[in-house]
Amino acid sequence: MSKEIWKPGNLLYPLPAVLVSVTDGEGNDNVLTVAWTGTICSDPAMVYISVRKERHSYEMIKKTGEFVINLTTEKLLEATDHCGVRSGKDEDKFEVCGLHKETAKYVKAPLIKESPLNLECEVTEIKELGSHDMFMANVLAVDVSPELLDEKGTLRLDKANLIAYSHGRYYSLGEELGTFGYSVRKK
Ligand SMILES: Cc1cc2nc3c(=O)[nH]c(=O)nc-3n(C[C@H](O)[C@H](O)[C@H](O)COP(=O)(O)O)c2cc1C
Repeated sequence: MSKEIWKPGNLLYPLPAVLVSVTDGEGNDNVLTVAWTGTICSDPAMVYISVRKERHSYEMIKKTGEFVINLTTEKLLEATDHCGVRSGKDEDKFEVCGLHKETAKYVKAPLIKESPLNLECEVTEIKELGSHDMFMANVLAVDVSPELLDEKGTLRLDKANLIAYSHGRYYSLGEELGTFGYSVRKK
């Protein structure tokens, strides 16, 4: 049977569903869930998030030109979903979700303490694309929880219990199937 041809759609999965923390720089912080996110350059380290204009967080990011990407874990699953269906217009999501703020080194937006790895980001460009605006950003620093470092100081992200998002559902990552370049490595 041949494949059905569907109209264009966002079916590039799995994706991370990250918690993005933001501030207006006047004492008001917020956090929202973002799945339209990714890496766009290795050197300089650059990422993007795509955010709808109607999000409460949108103006905060635009105003300060900063945000923090907080990786999400199984323990953060409920907060990840909640922060994606409730607005900071109506509640303090940090308080409701039991998320604690930590001071970032380079940006005013707070880090989420419960997330094991945070990317401090500075916006370089905003692309108005349609439903979403794409915020391209330099990663100014990566904040890593010491529990993820082994005795040699190597990052063991495999110990973080990160979650993934695919077509409306959240998943744990499951078992490791191989490592980078394993298919051509001499046995
Ligand atoms: C799994 C998931 C992924 C989401 N991804 C995005 C996204 O990439 N961009 C976006 O603008 N909204 C996204 N949302 C929706 C926002 O997180 C949601 O509208 C949130 O309430 C906005 O918060 P705010 O109004 O406090 O800024 C996502 C929601 C969920 C649950």
